[in-house]
Amino acid sequence: MDVFEAIAKRHSYRGPFRDQPVPRADLQRIVQAGLQAPSGKNAQTTGFVIVDDTELVGRISRLPATNTAMQQAKAFIACIVDVHPEAVYEGHDFQVEDCAAAVENMLLAVTALGYATVWIDGWLRVDRRAEKIGELLNLPAGKIIRVLLPIGVPEETRSQKETKLFEARAWFNRYGGAGA
Ligand SMILES: Cc1cc2nc3c(=O)[nH]c(=O)nc-3n(C[C@H](O)[C@H](O)[C@H](O)COP(=O)(O)O)c2cc1C
Repeated sequence: MDVFEAIAKRHSYRGPFRDQPVPRADLQRIVQAGLQAPSGKNAQTTGFVIVDDTELVGRISRLPATNTAMQQAKAFIACIVDVHPEAVYEGHDFQVEDCAAAVENMLLAVTALGYATVWIDGWLRVDRRAEKIGELLNLPAGKIIRVLLPIGVPEETRSQKETKLFEARAWFNRYGGAGA
């Protein structure tokens, strides 16, 4: 699958997973794609905890208010950032952007390998869920899970939501397209 096909096929999957494990070699390949993402000042700030231990996976899956994909995930990838990021360039840090770039690379790798996932971020910020999962994963003080990816082989076929038209969000030369 080339990169444009992976971009077109990537979608948030919240449905059931097959009862089929995700081999470590594939999890490692997915995270390797995250490691190779660009980062501000090449600081490579995002850390990754790959959860494939059945007991740990189950403890995350059983947290309240998850979706079906989280309840049936065969593995999770937790993306870790600093609670108080250090500035790396002129007083600025880029940890959120670094993490997002890594996540998108991993979403494309997940798609290319025939797995499915969904970018879980908002859910983590409610009821101290990020902190609770962080405790399960032995995160040291000062580190927090920013994004969680439940991974598995999708049972159902889903597709990407329709995106707004090019003309509605993108223009050549001037915002809004005037004088193009
Ligand atoms: C920053 C960010 C946070 C997100 N947080 C969640 C989340 O907590 N739970 C969830 O089910 N989906 C979450 N999503 C997935 C979005 O809902 C999804 O990408 C969007 O609806 C577009 O659908 P698509 O991914 O299928 O194209 C998040 C996506 C992003 C980029």
